[in-house]
This record gives sequence, C-alpha cells and structure tokens, in this order.
Amino acid sequence: MKQGDPQIIVKNLTIAYGDFVLLKDLDFTINKGDIFIIMGASGGGKSSLLRVLTGLVPAAKGQILIDGTDFTKASPAEREALMQRCGILYQSGALFSSMTLAENIALPLQQYTDYSQSLIDELVELKLALVGLKGFGEFYPSEISGGMKKRAGLARALALDPDIVYFDEPSAGLDPISSKLLDDLILDINHSLGTTIVVVTHELASIFDIGTNSIYLDTDIKGIGARGNPQDLLKNPPNENVAKFLTRGEK
Ligand SMILES: Nc1ncnc2c1ncn2[C@@H]1O[C@H](COP(=O)(O)OP(=O)(O)OP(=O)(O)O)[C@@H](O)[C@H]1O
Ligand SMILES: [Mg+2]
Repeated sequence: MKQGDPQIIVKNLTIAYGDFVLLKDLDFTINKGDIFIIMGASGGGKSSLLRVLTGLVPAAKGQILIDGTDFTKASPAEREALMQRCGILYQSGALFSSMTLAENIALPLQQYTDYSQSLIDELVELKLALVGLKGFGEFYPSEISGGMKKRAGLARALALDPDIVYFDEPSAGLDPISSKLLDDLILDINHSLGTTIVVVTHELASIFDIGTNSIYLDTDIKGIGARGNPQDLLKNPPNENVAKFLTRGEK
C-alpha cells in the first residue's frame, strides 16, 4: 500500500449505547499517511467513535475495513493481528504510574514479541529519543510534566512500529507551548515514518496545524456535518455549524 491509498474505510457505521443512538450511518475514508482529524463539540461522540474504530466498543451497525479486512467481523486472531498494527492513546489513557517510562514502553514489546531483553532495551531507547525523552527512561510518570507524559505515551504507542496511531485529545490539559511541541512531534512522526495518524480533538490550533483531512461530527444530525481539509473547510464552510465551530474565539 502506498501513501494516499485508502487504509481505513468506514461504511454505514452506527454507534449506540443500548437504545441511545449517538452517531448514525457514518461513511468516511482515512488514507494512508493522513493526519485525520475527528472534530466536534464536547459530547458529540468523538471518543466513542475512536473506541469503536479501535475495537474497544462494538459497532451497533456497519463496517470498518482496515486494509481490506472487515474489522467488525474479524475473528479474534485477525483482530489481534490488526490491533498489533495500531498504536492507541486514549483520552484518559495514562501510563502505568508504578512503572518507569522505559518499563511502560517495553510493555507492548514484552507482550507481543519474543525479542530478547537487550533488543527491547535498545528499542525503548530509540523510542524515547524519537519523542525527545532521551535519558528519561528511569523516571516515573509522576516525576515528569504533562507534555512529557503525552510524549511517553506516544513512545509506548509507537513501540511496535504501528501503521496507524490513534490519539484522543493530545493537547487536553497542556499549555500552548507543550501542545505545540506535541503537534510538531506528531507531524515529524507522520513525515518521517509515513504513519497514518487519527487525532480526536476540538483544539483549533491543532486542527489547522496538523490536519490533512477531517470529519466534523454534528450533534444536530448525529452524523458527519462536514469533511475535508480543515483549512479548506474554514475558507468554504458547507454549513453554519461547522463555520461556528471553526471560528470559535474569533470576532
Ligand atoms: N460507556 C458509555 N455508556 C453510555 N453512554 C456513554 C458512554 N460513553 C459515552 N457515552 C455518552 O456518549 C456521548 C458522547 O460521549 P463521548 O465521550 O464519545 O464524546 P466526546 O465527543 O469524546 O466528548 P469530549 O469532547 O467531552 O471528550 C455522551 O453523551 C456520553 O454521555
Ligand atoms: Mg472525548
């Protein structure tokens, strides 16, 4: 598969909690190498969509094709194989506080590979350097800043060299400078490794700085209110809701 080819194809996807339908009949495609933004107001279902895309919550209806395999119908073994190609950072997904950063990053390698400890140690060092945390391997999460924690989480998500990384609200709780650093890191990883990155966010700075494509989840219609490159959507908003969303804070 080359850059720009369809990698995740979502068809007629409905997400519900019991009888409560949150989002219905979603159709969208995420191409390889995209930084794909899932945006929308709080409570609109962004995290829920991410949980369905990553298999944590089952879909009520519809299909999710990842590299041609229907994720919603995959056997446990196929699912496991697909999941290993994805790195995930959940909104509240923190590092294990009782483990050092190095131990946190080593965890997926110990779980899913039969690499020797010395190779794992080497890979952990590489991942730490990749996210600008060289020399911090022996620190515990409580000893580092919020921005560093997010970067360490990203290093853990990248441990198995995933094709796709899912990131829920990377800038939540960060000051503007740490948030910008993290965005730059996301861009670097996307450019240097060609990783497809799916980012859930409502932060305008991030949306415009890193997004190559996007969907806007609109609570009024329980579906996709707009789609496309965020800068283009800002210039030519297809409706009032997305226009308001993208110009918040402006006069
Ligand atoms: N496990 C659950 N069971 C029932 N309802 C849920 C569950 N998780 C989320 N919801 C409901 O689904 C709706 C969307 O929640 P979700 O967390 O997906 O939104 P969000 O867009 O990520 O919001 P935020 O921007 O605040 O993170 C909310 O009304 C929430 O109460
Ligand atoms: Mg959320």
